[in-house]
Amino acid sequence: MPVCHGNTNCQLFIINYQLNMRHLIDPTDLTIEEVDLLMNRAMDIIAHPADYAESCHGRKLATLFYEPSTRTRLSFTSAMMGLGGQVLGFSDARSSSVSKGETVADTVRVVSCFADIIAMRHYKEGAPRVAADYSRIPVINAGDGGHSHPTQTLTDLLTIRRELGHFDRLTVGLCGDLKYGRTVHSLIKAMNRYEGTRFVLISPQELRLPDYMKQELRDNYTEVSTLEEAMPLVDVLYMTRVQQERFADRQEYERLKDSFILDEAKMALARKDMIVLHPLPRVNEITTGVDNDPRAAYFRQVENGKFVRMALIYTLLQWKDSEAGTTVNAGCGEGKCPNDRCITATEPVPHRAYHDKDGVLRCRYCDHAI
Ligand code: NCD
Repeated sequence: MPVCHGNTNCQLFIINYQLNMRHLIDPTDLTIEEVDLLMNRAMDIIAHPADYAESCHGRKLATLFYEPSTRTRLSFTSAMMGLGGQVLGFSDARSSSVSKGETVADTVRVVSCFADIIAMRHYKEGAPRVAADYSRIPVINAGDGGHSHPTQTLTDLLTIRRELGHFDRLTVGLCGDLKYGRTVHSLIKAMNRYEGTRFVLISPQELRLPDYMKQELRDNYTEVSTLEEAMPLVDVLYMTRVQQERFADRQEYERLKDSFILDEAKMALARKDMIVLHPLPRVNEITTGVDNDPRAAYFRQVENGKFVRMALIYTLLQWKDSEAGTTVNAGCGEGKCPNDRCITATEPVPHRAYHDKDGVLRCRYCDHAI
């Protein structure tokens, strides 16, 4: 959750009804120590799966997926099953009351009666934040529009930890759709907290990182225009697809979709001990010839996603039982968000805002400048 830097009286605006509840909406909702705890828990689950096989017996995970997903939804489902729990929910908003006009706030109030924990994916930016405000059970953001995807980030971090052994002093190349790529935004927020991280940004002009994200980076990034320039520099290369569903103009998508393609010739320019990650699905941006390169870690990454989601569900439920609380700061400002992809454009929620480190007023739900 962004912390408001604007007004020391901000605590007056705490609006979370369940102050004892921990959610995961933004990667920075977890401290670095808590990320470590989750990584260690995931490693323990990998080493001793039988010890966890009944740890969530009798618990239910609701998967509320308003936007298509294969990996993330199945990964959450498999994770809950691996903990001995059960899963309910929907994978198509048209089959839920949303098609009758129900708000996110009302849906989570209802689902709070049926489940113990929620994983929500939504096409509107900030929707899981709204869900967390009204939920009586922990909410996990499973991806909100082009904004954030914290559980993919935990997946990426566990993969980096298992493949490279540490998070410090890494150069991370981010390639593809940096504008709408929510996995990129969340990974930047998480990696930027470690000592000496540097970022190399590789994207078409039209899909460059949004300003609010660049602000996170300060001067620890460079932008390059070819993959060839980036290859020798990086410890981690994070490839992403150009996301057709985020484009209003199909022709624009067609023009940009094959801007950067990683192939064996480009891999020959990279370090021997680097790794290639991709949140998947892949379209054209990595040729299949790269798959057999030992540095291609993207399929190992998928399996790590299940383990880290097991660790997350286990931990959030444990925190809920022990009433480990946090206060949620709703910000000290108000103002209409200019981002038409933000949940505030369609749902009657309070137009809350917070001040970032530079004093810029930003939407509490999608982080855009107001
Ligand atoms: C990503 C997503 O949905 O944001 N995939 C995922 O969660 N594994 C990336 C994408 O869809 O391109």
